[in-house]
Amino acid sequence: MDIASRPAEPEQNPQTADAAPAPQAPPVIRREDYLPPAWLVPEIALDFDLGLDATKVTSTLSVKRNPEGNGAATLRLNGDQISPVSVRVDGEAASGWRMDGPDLLVELSGDAHEVTIETALVPSGNSQLMGLYASNGMLCTQCEAEGFRRITFFPDRPDVLSTYSVRMSGDKATFPILLANGNCTAEGEGENGTHWAEWYDPWPKPSYLFALVAGELIANHGTFTTKSGRTVDLNVWVRPGDEGRTQHALDSLIASMKWDEETFGREYDLDLFNIVAVSDFNMGAMENKGLNVFNTRYVLADPDTATDADYDAIEGVIGHEYFHNWSGNRVTCRDWFQLSLKEGFTVLRDQLFSADMGSEPVKRIEDVRILRIAQFPEDSGPLAHPIRPDSYQEISNFYTATVYNKGAEVIRMMRTMAGEERFRKGTDLYFDRHDGTAATCEDFVKAIEDGAGLDLAQFRLWYSQAGTPQVAASLTQEDGKAVLTLHQTVPTTPGQPEKQAMPIPLRVALFDRATGTHSGESLVVLDKAEDRFVFADAPADPVLSINRSFSAPVAIEMARPDADLVFLAARDDDPFARYEAMQSLVVQHLVAAVGGGLDEGQRSAGRTAIGEAFRAIVTDAELDDLMRGELMLLPAESYLAEQLLVSDPGAIHAEREGLKAWLGATLADELKALHDRVSAVPYSREAEARGARKVKTQALVYIAAGDGAEGASRGIAQYRAASCMTDRQGALMVLASLDCPEREEALADFLARYEGNALVIDKWFSLQAGSLHPRVLDHVRALAKHPEFRMSNPNRVRSVFMAAAMNPVAFHDPSGEGYRMIGDIIRRLDPINPQTAARFVPSLGRWRRVEPARASLMRAELERIAQESDLSRDVREQVSKSLG
Ligand code: PHE
Ligand code: ZN
Repeated sequence: MDIASRPAEPEQNPQTADAAPAPQAPPVIRREDYLPPAWLVPEIALDFDLGLDATKVTSTLSVKRNPEGNGAATLRLNGDQISPVSVRVDGEAASGWRMDGPDLLVELSGDAHEVTIETALVPSGNSQLMGLYASNGMLCTQCEAEGFRRITFFPDRPDVLSTYSVRMSGDKATFPILLANGNCTAEGEGENGTHWAEWYDPWPKPSYLFALVAGELIANHGTFTTKSGRTVDLNVWVRPGDEGRTQHALDSLIASMKWDEETFGREYDLDLFNIVAVSDFNMGAMENKGLNVFNTRYVLADPDTATDADYDAIEGVIGHEYFHNWSGNRVTCRDWFQLSLKEGFTVLRDQLFSADMGSEPVKRIEDVRILRIAQFPEDSGPLAHPIRPDSYQEISNFYTATVYNKGAEVIRMMRTMAGEERFRKGTDLYFDRHDGTAATCEDFVKAIEDGAGLDLAQFRLWYSQAGTPQVAASLTQEDGKAVLTLHQTVPTTPGQPEKQAMPIPLRVALFDRATGTHSGESLVVLDKAEDRFVFADAPADPVLSINRSFSAPVAIEMARPDADLVFLAARDDDPFARYEAMQSLVVQHLVAAVGGGLDEGQRSAGRTAIGEAFRAIVTDAELDDLMRGELMLLPAESYLAEQLLVSDPGAIHAEREGLKAWLGATLADELKALHDRVSAVPYSREAEARGARKVKTQALVYIAAGDGAEGASRGIAQYRAASCMTDRQGALMVLASLDCPEREEALADFLARYEGNALVIDKWFSLQAGSLHPRVLDHVRALAKHPEFRMSNPNRVRSVFMAAAMNPVAFHDPSGEGYRMIGDIIRRLDPINPQTAARFVPSLGRWRRVEPARASLMRAELERIAQESDLSRDVREQVSKSLG
């Protein structure tokens, strides 16, 4: 059975066969339909006879009737593009089995049996990268969410927990290293140059956490001694030649292990922890028990090939996957509707970890920026869903910024309301109560409620209601007191026309204009549609600082005088609030400008206010450069578009670029002085030097916007002088958007310099596809034909087409060519890798919020995709929801 070939389509109804293609909608899975499994599988033994082109799997399941199940005599085992070579029950060839679509049904007479099934796989033909597949000469698995059923027949749901014994054998030269979950219990030589290994994982786990890796790998080895004194062996496995770029990953792992002991009291529970880097991977990384599998981009780093941002991302993802060992593995999910139980919580944990490893405020600003760019548009579009969805067609489509990042914000709010110490009591109780089980979001909330002593009755709405709450704020004076009036609305979202008021915790401070100080921050919780909060001892005519440190994932609506925002941008003692004031100042101005609501006088007044605040940021000697780099960022175009019901992406781009150029020209001297100062800071991994590098490229961006020739000469100078990837990539990014000979010089040098380094070549592709160059669409077309382009490698596909889809100049080209390009890639990629293909749909799905001419082009592209008869469930769901 060829795993890459799709199962035969059901016969078409002759009456509809001639009509326009009416693709059957995939079945809808509903949260409220949850039923406990009829059969449990306390133990499974897997035997793999490995080969890149042919792998034989023999799986022996000890099954037991679940006393809490429905008592059915039929055991349903899920499958996906596999067929059984043989089925035995209690050692005898079984006759009582049949296929039901992709699933295998076995009739069983007693309460406990042993079911043995053989399957045959073709890993090299598996382009979906789910199940067992070949990548770069090695074999690896990916099972979350429903990939295990592509390896063998099994009740492939996260509430069936089993202990796994794995045996694998294969050619020793092809697969010198054989890894699975848990510990290696035996190994030996076989015939004809083969060898074998046996692995046993003592911790019961769901099938999605199973993993196997076989291939030629080399480890960077370390150890960690846990707080109770056990020594854990650590390995970061990579392809030979990459071992020199693994130290940061290993250091990050050790830091994660220590941090989770100190911060959440969580100790590691095996004697071995393996990380493997693979180059073909749909996502970032995967938390398989004791055997994390990573996209190479979240493992490999050295200063010459990875930017400071890459280093940070590696630290964060290594932490994230490690933290899953408790939040995900020891306590797992009852069903996939509970995905945020593990992902929201684990994202919060990795955010807190990264904040502790670096700068807390800078990390907070970055996290909020990601939320606004990636999650806010989701919440206001056709694919909006609560962090705990109520239904899905394809679960892979729900690994979203809502489940992950908004999920983290929701738990962060509980932490804010409880305070750190009480929150920790809640998480301790959660781990205690639910260790070894498959839990629900409700279990989590209840544990925090009981452990932290909070009443979260109304707060549970954050799990069930989609949409970003909008909070209108106004500050008035009454009898010498300051009165803050807050009004919330939760927008309607698909399937949720009516919304209830949610509890929204807002950190607030009232500043005295004269002294620049406030008398203390307070936490107000808005839990009604509208409420008033009186501040008795506020200064007269105070400046309001609200949603400090972004205490709630909401949008604050408040028209404010520029002067107040300039004041906060310069003086607020909450660094996040400083950033926020700067953002608001710019958002307010650009939104008005885009709407055509500014005359020349107002435009120049607005720019002057922004320029003043910007000058303070550029020249403030007290400010550290990492923070300066954040404050210098203009709000993203997608975030600006969010502020308008319907927006013109061309106008947004023109206004934002216009402001950038104006700032670059007006503050040219200050920016050049800044660029010169930070260019003199020598390379190190210390915060100060990293801050210098961040500001270096930021300054260059503005200088180039104000004066292209100056940008080109400084850009190529920064490129040539670069001693690390951060500076080199930063310079190349700026040059890529300019139409100048320096651009070609740098691009050619970069390609030649890093030939053979796939991750760096990805950068070369994405810098061009993401550039603001006027001919960027031509460049993207050429990149797709470049000999180094590969449709089979998700990193490479994303480096070209995700960069283009996120690039307003390319994507929103008025001709519609950008939309056509993304539509084409979805259709071409879908038969190869549906999960990755479906990730491109949301960009087109935003059409209702875009001006009519572009909207109809975007919609037409979606309709063209919908016409395809063989769409995957993944793409079908996203496209039909985007059109519906
Ligand atoms: N569970 C992984 C994580 O968040 C993400 C993932 C999902 C990876 C599905 C692969 C497939 O860490
Ligand atoms: Zn995760």
